[in-house]
Formats: sequence, C-alpha cells, structure tokens
Amino acid sequence: MSVDRCICRNVTFNQLLELSKHLGCDVEKLQDATNAGYGCGMCIPYIHVAVKTGKSRVPVMSHVQSERVMADANLRRPQEQ
Ligand code: FES
Repeated sequence: MSVDRCICRNVTFNQLLELSKHLGCDVEKLQDATNAGYGCGMCIPYIHVAVKTGKSRVPVMSHVQSERVMADANLRRPQEQ
C-alpha cells in the first residue's frame, strides 16, 4: 500500500515533483503553491519523502516513522503553525 497524493487538496505527488523542477525542493514552497498539506496535514511527511526521493508513490508509514520524518525535516503540520 502506498500514498500518491494529498487527498484533502487532491494534489498528486507527480504534480509536486513536476513543480519542484521549477520551484526547487522546498516542501513549504511546494505546499504554498498547491495548498497540498494544508488540510489535515497527514500527507506532509509523505510529500517530503516524495520530493526527497523523486518517487511519486511512498509506502505507508507508521505514526512513529512519519513523526520522525517530520522532526528530521523540521516540518510542521497545519495545526502546529
Ligand atoms: S491529505 Fe494532505 S492535507 Fe490532508
């Protein structure tokens, strides 16, 4: 099972990867440009992994794994901002 999009904003990781060719790999810039991740925020660690690896499908992570990605990348969910 894998994740390939921000469900709340219906933005695919393919779209984000395409956009990253023009905007760079700053996840917050990509979020600002598409609104991806600005719903429930659950996709943010997946967006980060997709952008970092260049892969449009990211295997489902455990809560601990996703929190580790968030902490390592110094990312915040919408309710934490
Ligand atoms: S799935 Fe992306 S903000 Fe909810």
